[in-house]
Amino acid sequence: MTETLTIRRPDDWHLHFRDGEVMRGVVPYTARQFARAIVMPNLTPPVTTAAMAAEYRERILAAVPEGLRFTPLMTCYLTDTTDAEDLVRGAAEGVFTAAKLYPANATTNSAHGVSDVAKIYPVLERMETEGVILCVHGEVTDSEIDVFDREAEFIERHMRAIVRDFPRLRVVFEHITTADAAEFVLGQGVNVAATITPQHLHINRNAMLVGGIQPHNYCLPVAKRETHRLALRKAATSGNPKFFLGTDSAPHLRSAKETSCGCAGIFNAPYALESYLKVFEEEGALDTFEGFASLHGPAFYGLPVNEEEITLERAEVTVPASLPLAGEEIVPWHAGEVLGWRMRG
Ligand code: DOR
Ligand code: ZN
Repeated sequence: MTETLTIRRPDDWHLHFRDGEVMRGVVPYTARQFARAIVMPNLTPPVTTAAMAAEYRERILAAVPEGLRFTPLMTCYLTDTTDAEDLVRGAAEGVFTAAKLYPANATTNSAHGVSDVAKIYPVLERMETEGVILCVHGEVTDSEIDVFDREAEFIERHMRAIVRDFPRLRVVFEHITTADAAEFVLGQGVNVAATITPQHLHINRNAMLVGGIQPHNYCLPVAKRETHRLALRKAATSGNPKFFLGTDSAPHLRSAKETSCGCAGIFNAPYALESYLKVFEEEGALDTFEGFASLHGPAFYGLPVNEEEITLERAEVTVPASLPLAGEEIVPWHAGEVLGWRMRG
């Protein structure tokens, strides 16, 4: 039996840090495991300009513990009125690595998102020409569409049009949750890829709704039925470079989760690699883990792979029931469970 696994240091291609005290509390968890992360811009107010992103990046860098090397990769929050010039200039200057499309009101802090994809067509055109990557939260928001169908519906209404109208635009279909999304991505050229979270590989929707409502298993897009989870596990472990690691770790304090209107988001940063590795081991796919975690993302983003290596070793690790954060508590993903791997160092 494999006792240790040494791989290039991984990156997290989709992550929420927030700002202020929460950000300072969560950055160390990610910086310990990952060399780089694509940092989501859904702050209040959202990160909509290169100047805001540059300042946010400084605040994150100041929170990286001494001795760790970590590079935040910043994203621009697209709105109906995004200034394409500021975006492409920010990308050229190395401030922006990608831009994020949130359909308005799809999820946490997305009220300023795009109300109609047609409104950002001129921006997408510039992004295609300039080689700026588009990250997409792929869910429609119409109240008449069932929440479990929102991702599949987004593919039909918007994704097909975006890839048809901008055939050279690099598009990341973020945190996919359905077999439909995996199939869609597989059917596209090399310019279309997807990130997959650990939670969508571990749980189906029962984990949210059976035995009482389980707020710590609630995130958006919501976990779907079992057939979808199995399709995602197949995609993630397949070795196909279109699929790579993006935790979508999203810190919400316990008080904001365990309430009558609990927030969407799962805080998986502290044991992210261990969580993914459990899945790869169960699938008999330890050999494809390095590609998913450390190679496919850089290849898609056109960035070098990390030179450093990390080692994961077989060990029983009990995930704490809660962790202190910003003077309160946060419940990590896998709280109270025993995981079979531990990252050294
Ligand atoms: O569950 C989620 N939480 N999904 C998102 O898209 C946003 C995130 C957050 O920011 O909390
Ligand atoms: Zn997210």
